[in-house]
Amino acid sequence: MIRTDLSFIGEDAKKLIETFRPEADDAVFTLERGSGRGNDFLGWQALPFDYDRNEVSRIKAAAAKIRESAEVFVVIGIGGSYLGARAVIEAVKGLYHNDRCDGPKIYFAGNSVSADALNEVLDICRDKDFCINVISKSGTTTEPGVAFRAFSRLLTEKYGDGADERIYVTTDKARGALKALTDKKGWESFVVPDDVGGRFSVLTAVGLLPIAVAGCDIDALLKGAADSATAQKGVGTQAEEYALARFAMLNAGKSIEIMVSYEPRLTMFAEWFKQLYGESEGKEGKGLFPAACAFSTDLHSMGQYIQDGQRIIFETVLSVESSATDYDLGSDDDGIAFLNGQKVSFVNRMAQQGTILAHCDGGVPNVILRVDALDEYNVGAMIYFFEKACGISAYLLGVNPFDQPGVESYKKNMFALLGKPGFEELREDLNKRLRN
Ligand code: PA5
Repeated sequence: MIRTDLSFIGEDAKKLIETFRPEADDAVFTLERGSGRGNDFLGWQALPFDYDRNEVSRIKAAAAKIRESAEVFVVIGIGGSYLGARAVIEAVKGLYHNDRCDGPKIYFAGNSVSADALNEVLDICRDKDFCINVISKSGTTTEPGVAFRAFSRLLTEKYGDGADERIYVTTDKARGALKALTDKKGWESFVVPDDVGGRFSVLTAVGLLPIAVAGCDIDALLKGAADSATAQKGVGTQAEEYALARFAMLNAGKSIEIMVSYEPRLTMFAEWFKQLYGESEGKEGKGLFPAACAFSTDLHSMGQYIQDGQRIIFETVLSVESSATDYDLGSDDDGIAFLNGQKVSFVNRMAQQGTILAHCDGGVPNVILRVDALDEYNVGAMIYFFEKACGISAYLLGVNPFDQPGVESYKKNMFALLGKPGFEELREDLNKRLRN
């Protein structure tokens, strides 16, 4: 479970929180009653309880089959169709899960249009038995579309008609080019519910299939999310406190929130957080800019700026209260003899505590989110906590948390430059600008 610790945000911010509390309570009611903007995308709230049992059984069966028949599993998707699965797998199994865990090695593709990135994963697959899971709610996104063409082609070259057995699709139940192709080919498919937006979809098949293939316990993940949903219901919750703290920071002149963790295995979780909050709140000229740092690593790169640069930052520290393993430093007569008799987890804890105080002294308030451990249960709880807090925070800010009108602009330009039919006029215009 997660506790929001506001001991290090300063007295002024605490007063601001009390000023804004009635508005935050309203935001909670708006979200829970489904009376706010974007209320046709609230399906994520019920996912931990009200999921399709049959679909989850099929996910487990598919994961077991993939674990038996594949040395490599390629997950093709971008944004909300990729970040959640990778975040959970790395948080629970660690950064080097491919080398340390049994089951297929998992790679991600279709999250860019880099030819090099595509070829690297294709090369890995060439002499291995592999399966793919293409994930796209709309079924029309260019990046996964390009990767899917490449990987399905390689599957056909290797397995002929047997390729169809190795393709798993996660998409809309009725719409989109991917759905039409899936029906034609008879590929095994899973559904992204209509009322769940991409960045809120990790607890659907979008996240659950890759997470299960990685050997994670998806029942425990869902149970953690369900218990978190109960804990975060109503007003006065830890999620509301976090949303309030962010709003207080924004009103105190902070414009950047850095999600900080002292556990490298949370690096991708912070990427998932960045998308969740950036895409939900960054609109109409509003919103905190969500950033991320991995400490103590980034204290040796970004630490100077955070301590001493523009005073527009606050940090949210995702503090993991117990690491899964430890290392006893024992005794030695070397340059770190002052650490004799200590454990590495103690050193990490002192780095965290020292940094929090130093940054607070430098004018960077710290919100601490305390998490018991990085297992499926707690990671499930974290997912729901951040989703709930995001909804509250966006309504408090006065924006629709569930749309993303801004991402269309680059797509239109890209389609025009690529010669997609229907974009001829824009293409001419853009080419003129690029020639100047
Ligand atoms: O959160 C979102 O809606 C986006 O990040 C989408 O997940 C992303 O653009 C991918 O879209 P799709 O799943 O339709 O391919």
